[in-house]
Formats: sequence, C-alpha cells, structure tokens
Amino acid sequence: MAEKKGTYYITTPIYYPSSKLHIGHTYCTVMADAMARFKRLSGYDVRFLTGTDEHGQKIQDIAKNKNVSTQEYVDEIVDGIKELWKTMEISYDDFIRTTETRHVERVQEIFKKIYEKGDIYKGEYEGWYCTPCESFWTETQVEDGKCPDCGRPVQKAKEEAYFFRLSKYQDRLLDLFENNAEFLQPETRRNEMIKFVKQGLDDLCISRSTFDWGIKVPMDEKHVIYVWLDALSNYITALGYPDDPELYEKYWPADIHLVGKEIVRFHTVIWPAMLMSMDLPLPKQVLGHGWLLLEGGKMSKSKGNVVDPVVLIDRYGVDALKYFLLREYTFGQDGVYTNEVMLRRMNFDLANDLGNLLSRTVAMIQKYNGGFVPDAKGSNETDEDLKEVAIGAAPKVEEHMNKFQYSLALEEIWVLIRRANKYIDETMPWVLAKEEGDKEKLDTVLHNLAESLRIVSVLIHPFMHNTSGKMRKQLGLWYKEVEWEDAFTFDMMSGEQVAKGKQLFPRLDIDKELEELEKMQGPSEEENIELELKPEIVYDDFDKIDFRVGTILTAEKHPKADKLLVFQVKMGTEKRQIISGVAEDFTPEEMVGKKVIVVANLKPRKLRGLESKGMLMFAENGKRCEIVTTIADDGCVVD
Ligand code: MSP
Repeated sequence: MAEKKGTYYITTPIYYPSSKLHIGHTYCTVMADAMARFKRLSGYDVRFLTGTDEHGQKIQDIAKNKNVSTQEYVDEIVDGIKELWKTMEISYDDFIRTTETRHVERVQEIFKKIYEKGDIYKGEYEGWYCTPCESFWTETQVEDGKCPDCGRPVQKAKEEAYFFRLSKYQDRLLDLFENNAEFLQPETRRNEMIKFVKQGLDDLCISRSTFDWGIKVPMDEKHVIYVWLDALSNYITALGYPDDPELYEKYWPADIHLVGKEIVRFHTVIWPAMLMSMDLPLPKQVLGHGWLLLEGGKMSKSKGNVVDPVVLIDRYGVDALKYFLLREYTFGQDGVYTNEVMLRRMNFDLANDLGNLLSRTVAMIQKYNGGFVPDAKGSNETDEDLKEVAIGAAPKVEEHMNKFQYSLALEEIWVLIRRANKYIDETMPWVLAKEEGDKEKLDTVLHNLAESLRIVSVLIHPFMHNTSGKMRKQLGLWYKEVEWEDAFTFDMMSGEQVAKGKQLFPRLDIDKELEELEKMQGPSEEENIELELKPEIVYDDFDKIDFRVGTILTAEKHPKADKLLVFQVKMGTEKRQIISGVAEDFTPEEMVGKKVIVVANLKPRKLRGLESKGMLMFAENGKRCEIVTTIADDGCVVD
C-alpha cells in the first residue's frame, strides 16, 4: 500500500427517504464513491459518509397519506436505500440516519451550543414554506405563489418559532465567498451565492410547532428543530461531535461536501453560519453538481418518469452504469439521460474499445507465446509513443480528479486504450508471427500491450473496480494488490501468465435493447389501467355542465370528516367554497395555488355541515385519483 498522505473526508447529501431513489440520486453517490476509492488508492486515509434525512413535514405527510407510522415508513425506504448502495458496491465508511439516537442527542447539543452563544431567540414566524424543499421563503422571495427553487406552490405559515441569527453572519459569509474561491465551486454557484447573500440575510426560522416528526428543541419540547438544521449537522454528528470527538478530531473539517446545485444554498450559507456560531472550522470545499434530466425535464416520481438504476444494473452490470454516469456528464452541468446515449457508451467504449483490447491481447499472448508475457526486445518510435501515452496517463487522471472532472479523467484512460488498439493495427502482430515475420518485434508488441492493459487496470480501479479485477485475472495479476504507483512504470509484466476469460462487456444490439428497456421502464400506470366505465351518456347530458377555470386559494381538512377537503376557489371575481372527498389522495398544502376545472353549475349541497357550491374535477388513474388542472398549471409535481 502507498504511504498514507493524510486524511480525506468526503460526504454526500443525506437523502430524503420519501420514496425509492432514482438514477439522479445515484449520480452523486457514484461520484463520491469514485473519489473515495481514488483517494484511498492514492494513499489517503479516507472517510466517506452518506445517509438519510428522515425528519420533516414532507415525510410525515407522506406516511400519513399511506396510513403507516412515520418510523415504519422510513425504515422500509431506508432498507431499500441501503440495499441499493450494496448492489452498487458503494464503499461508504458510515451511513447515518437522522432518526438514530446518536444523531438526535448530538443535534440537541448543537442547538444548545448555538442557543448559549446567544444566536437563537424565540419569536413568531410569518411567511411561506415549501414543503417538498423544506424551506422558508419571505414574501419578496416567493414568485407568484411558487417556491423560487422548485416552482411548486408554497404554503402560508404562521407559528411561534425559534430563530437563528443568520443575519449576524452575513459579512463573514460574503467574505468567505469573495476571498476563498475554493470554498464553493463551480464558479457559477459561487456567483449565485454572492448575489444571494448580498441581497441581505434574514434571521432563519429553525423550529416548527405544527407537526412533531423531528428532533425536539431541548428547552421547549413543543417545537421540533427545523429539518435542515438537523440534517446539516449530520456531517459532524456522524463523527461523534460533540461527546465522542475522536473521529471528529481526526477528520473534521471535511474536505468535500458533494451536493446537488439546488441545495448549495443550505450548505454554503446556513451550514457555515451554524459552524461559525459554534466556533468550529468550516468544510474546506462544497461542490455543487448539476442534475440528470430526462428529455421532458427533471425526474420526478409523480411525473412517473424516473429511471430505476436497478433495472440497468441487472441488465448491464454495476460497472457499466458507473462508467456511463461518470463519463457522460460534465461535473457541475446538467445533462440529459437517454437509454440510447447510455447504450452507445457501453457498446463503443466498453465492449469495443476496452473489451476488445483485452481479449485480443490475451488471445495473441496465448497463441504466439504459450500464454506468457514475453520480455520487450528493443523499442522503436511506435513503441515509445505507446509507452509515453501509457505512463503519461496517471498524472493526467490525477489532475482531472483533483478538479472532480471525472469525465476528463476517464477520457485520458480511453486515450490510452484507443492508442493501444491502434498500436495493434500498426504493428500487425499476426504478420510478425508468420514464419518470415519477426519474433523479437512480436515479443515487444505483446509485452507493450500487456503493460498498457496492466496500467489501464490500475487507472480504472476507482471507477470500475470489478472490471479492474476481471482484467487483472486475465492478465495473470490476480495475486497482486492494485497500487496506484504501478501506473507510473512500464516494466512489470514479463513472465506473467495470462488466462482467457469471459468478454468484459457483451456487445449490445442497441435497437433490441432500446425496445427491451422501454418495455421494462414502461408502460406507465395510465396505460396499464383496465377501464371500467359508467354507462354511456348522450351529448345533451354533457352539454348541461358549465365548466369554469378556478384557482384554489386555500385548502384545509374538513373539521368533521377525515375524507373531505374544504377549498376556497376563486373564479373571476367570485370566491366560493367547494368540498371534495380527496383527503386520502392529496394534502391541503399541495392543492393551494392550483388552477383547476370547476363544475360551476352543480346544485349546492351541505357536506357534514358545510356548504359546497360546485365541484372540482378529479379523474381516476389506476390506484390514485388525479386532479384536473389547466395547462398553465405546471406546479403539481411532488418528487
Ligand atoms: N435531504 C436533503 C439533503 C440534506 S443534506 C444535509 C435533500 N435530499 S434529496 O433526497 O431531495 O436530494 C439529495 C440529493 O440528490 C441532492 O443533492 C439532489 O441534488 C440530488 N438529486 C436529486 N435528483 C437529482 C437528479 N435528477 N440529478 C442529480 N442529482 C439529483 O435534498
């Protein structure tokens, strides 16, 4: 093993266990995993943390809607997340759940510390709240009743609450962004945050009292701690801060918090301010990556357009998926996922370039030299060129990895792979092997190909450790540990005995695969529905209905009926009360702001004591009921 270079602490966001994770979530974890493996291989003492963010209103609402206890609900989803990381061979050192006692107690200690510093006071919160993002917004930040981050409708919140003196840290935060360019990257994110802080920071509401799924405020148990304060603390509670500080002292400050672009604000404004308040060091760097999008926009459970990584892993293997995610997308930018782009990468880069290079080389060493790697005998310009590319790759990979440019790092490795394939075409070993050929030259070629492949097996290890292992088995290197330094030398393969193995990656019939994937990823729920219709009606019956567009101003549960929601709906200048039996399918919060279709001339009637004047249109969709909205209403997604 390489000599230890120091510690390296890297974290992913902790995921909401609101539903199964999709390929977008795996993107960040795969990047963090590759970096952790790369740093371990380069000699660092690495700590890699991931976990789940289990409290908050959103999770509580979802569990309630499903009629299970919140704890039961999160336990099941978290088991699934852990299973996914096992399938993907994610090499985390610790997995923290925010419902674990170790976390709960430490968050309360953290709250106390900030309180004792004089940075927490009690007041009344009046403003807006976005439940899917679990974030507070002021009147001026809200755009047309929608969350400025996710575009979904926000709800009014008015409650007694504790506040954190975030405004006190405004200047120090600005100084941090302006004078420490490394702290937040990429540059675009840094500029966004400078702008955000310059607009002025309000004190932050850090407790809620209208629901109870959270960590209790230690000095006032009516309140639960705001879920982001709870969640951000995981990066140090998992290290034992404050009561068991051994790991904390070893690994804090973190080297990298890897996060998606929409949560950069929490990690670079709220989190540093909390740490400043506690007089603790700040993380060295926060990196905001882009999103994986589908052609129709962001992946979202409710749009039914999520890509399940397990389907892809079952079919193509975990290494192929990791390679694709790391190679295809540019760090920091959004990228569009399509099955076709993925399949092409797998075919061209993995099956053709890498797979063929290995199988051809092993086959030739067996055929022309009895399966043993010969010594090199002399060297000409072509040999030197290959050698230069081979030993020149590792420093370039290091350089790109140090900038989190996974795609460029992999591209450097493929420059070598493609160079080696070209070397076979240039040197034509099958001609050198003929009777009138040149055995010495042939030995050199076989030797150089084996060396190049050995180097590739080291370089790809952080990204695709299984493939690296399979390559090393075929190259006869199964008994040797992978050492990063070995990528810098070109003289280790003489005498090794190769062994033919299975193709690393099968060649895919892209059209057939596209068809198969489509079948597996769809058809969507709608297409699966068996229609059981009511009896036919004539046009005249239909024509009696007066449809109007309305906007839901408020929504609340009916005080006397669990299944009913009471809406105040605005239609033109008129405002009316309409009651619908959809409380099992929708929370009041998600309905506010929607543009809906109203049956406006339905005879008014009383429902459990309250008058309902008209009807909102809902439609059956398999297991669930959907609200009919106008095209103008695009705010109805719930991840
Ligand atoms: N629980 C918070 C994070 C708290 S960290 C102290 C949270 N959870 S999340 O589950 O909604 O998102 C976790 C991460 O997944 C975020 O970094 C987010 O950007 C990322 N992604 C979710 N969908 C994604 C894509 N489609 N593409 C790439 N990353 C995406 O936020």
